[in-house]
Amino acid sequence: MTESRRTVVTAFVVLFSTVVCVSLLLFFFGRPKSDHGENHTSSAYVVTVSTNPLDIKEGRAIMDNNKCFSCHSINGVGGTVAPSLNGVKYRKSPEMIFRWIKSPDSIKPGTAMPQYPFANDQIRKIISYLETVDSVSAR
Ligand code: HEC
Repeated sequence: MTESRRTVVTAFVVLFSTVVCVSLLLFFFGRPKSDHGENHTSSAYVVTVSTNPLDIKEGRAIMDNNKCFSCHSINGVGGTVAPSLNGVKYRKSPEMIFRWIKSPDSIKPGTAMPQYPFANDQIRKIISYLETVDSVSAR
């Protein structure tokens, strides 16, 4: 084997091993967090639901001020392009509701639900309000 040929072979072996290592790393650590539809893994932020009436009132006010009801409804009042939020507490854990407000795209890529730049505490108050909203019996 000539010197230059040896260099080419060495370069190839180095390149090949690098590709294999990177692929393995990506396979084990780089798996995307969400795939199709909903992802039910818990988020890092643990939501402490408040039962303080002031927090609950503020949560509702944040929703009124941010046009949530142009899409969502509660007790039949509001928009119809998004699911009613009556009884959302029975369908979603506080952590999932948190993620729906904080980063809807991480749950459902391409969703019409906008991402809001709320502080975690504001979202916590919204959730505290939503925890008081029961299912409405339409019939
Ligand atoms: C432009 C319309 C729009 C606005 C405004 C909007 N949402 Fe949504 N939201 C959606 C849609 C659409 C979904 C359902 C997404 C899906 O399933 O694809 C959704 C889903 C949700 C969910 C999960 C509901 C469930 O039953 O799974 C919550 C909670 C939620 N939104 C809260 C809010 C809050 C709080 C606000 C205001 C801060 C808000 N949304 C504003 C469109 C909107």
